[in-house]
Amino acid sequence: MGIAQMWETFRSVARFDTFETDPTRRRLRSVASVDDLRTLAKRRLPAGVFDYIDGGAEDERTLGTNSTHFSRLEFRPRVLRDVSALDTSTTIFGRPASMPVILSPTGFTRIAHSQGELAVTRAAGRAGIPWSLSTMGTRSIEECAEANPDGDKWFQIYTWKDRGLVRELVERARASGFSTVWLTVDTAVLGRRERDVRRGMTLPPKLGPRTLIDGAIHPAWTKDFLTAEPITFANIVGRHDDDGSTAISLAEHVASQFDQALSWDDIEWLRSFWDGPIVLKGIQTVADAKRAVAEGVEGIGLSNHGGRQLDDAPSPVTLIEPVRDEIGDTATIICDGGVRRGSDVVKALALGADAVSLGRPCFLALGAAGEPGVDWLLDFLREGIERTMALTGCASLAEIDRDLVRWIA
Ligand SMILES: Cc1cc2nc3c(=O)[nH]c(=O)nc-3n(C[C@H](O)[C@H](O)[C@H](O)COP(=O)(O)O)c2cc1C
Repeated sequence: MGIAQMWETFRSVARFDTFETDPTRRRLRSVASVDDLRTLAKRRLPAGVFDYIDGGAEDERTLGTNSTHFSRLEFRPRVLRDVSALDTSTTIFGRPASMPVILSPTGFTRIAHSQGELAVTRAAGRAGIPWSLSTMGTRSIEECAEANPDGDKWFQIYTWKDRGLVRELVERARASGFSTVWLTVDTAVLGRRERDVRRGMTLPPKLGPRTLIDGAIHPAWTKDFLTAEPITFANIVGRHDDDGSTAISLAEHVASQFDQALSWDDIEWLRSFWDGPIVLKGIQTVADAKRAVAEGVEGIGLSNHGGRQLDDAPSPVTLIEPVRDEIGDTATIICDGGVRRGSDVVKALALGADAVSLGRPCFLALGAAGEPGVDWLLDFLREGIERTMALTGCASLAEIDRDLVRWIA
């Protein structure tokens, strides 16, 4: 073969991508899944920060089963159905959402990226889906509302001993246009997150030889961290000595704040000053779901806090069907935990959920690539939902029904 022929053959297969000048977008070009985002976040974040986000309670069995139980569901795809126009849109508590996906509340979000909640809420606004701010958030209710004025915003509360503060936060959320309250009910005490114990991780991180070395080998994160304003629990700054601006451990902070006397009676208390939808976040049995409906809540958040609280708690995906069978259409069911792909979203809906909610994927996306990382994640989920709908013969969410999946061993 002559040189000319070789050149012709080479030219017929050679394809050169245009060079991406933006380093973040360049990084995202090699990401194909949430697992890849996680790998990228692991590379970019100090180990203590990555483990704070990624870790779970004790032996992390529940953290594992939250995701792996999705792989125990197999599709029963239907063919020869017109899927030329796919519609992923829905309504959640009467508000339109472009897909049945909610971003879960996460505390201390700025530890992944200085923009923190502002980046996430802007991305959710662009994607047209609900986003949630945690009581332990690191951007204020008001600045988040300003960053995403038209998007659907939910506020998450822990019920603290200082009930006046909880009420004040909820009232600020209402004044800022938040639509829905998550009441987290799986956190009577804080779970034992052994990765944090091992690393001596505190929030905010305390500087010591280990953290200094960790920071030095992750210069991009360290530069972002050091050049931004200090991280605080932005909504409670000034309200307590231990608002996060002092280097108290998260465990100490939470232990001093959570009201372990929280009970079903407190739903009525919350109702006395919040007239929007209430979602109980952390329902883990059919009986409690039934009780929640009897107490008049609008939403059941099937959740074990992403496997960060009680190890060997049931995975949310296994609870959807029995809970739906028990409560019928009396409440909105949200499956929170372990969702990593659009196909997981479709499976949850097939079992009877109205929507899913995600924590770590979004936090890790922020750590991996900042706001463009969150945009990437939301596009990835939408494309995954659409692809799964097309391949299973569902043109709209209404066509996703119980027959679409079956449990395998
Ligand atoms: C780093 C981190 C911080 C979290 N902080 C909160 C919080 O402040 N309040 C809360 O109700 N849930 C919190 N969660 C739980 C999430 O809201 C959500 O239930 C969980 O992440 C869902 O599981 P997934 O991570 O598998 O999607 C947190 C989760 C993570 C990973």
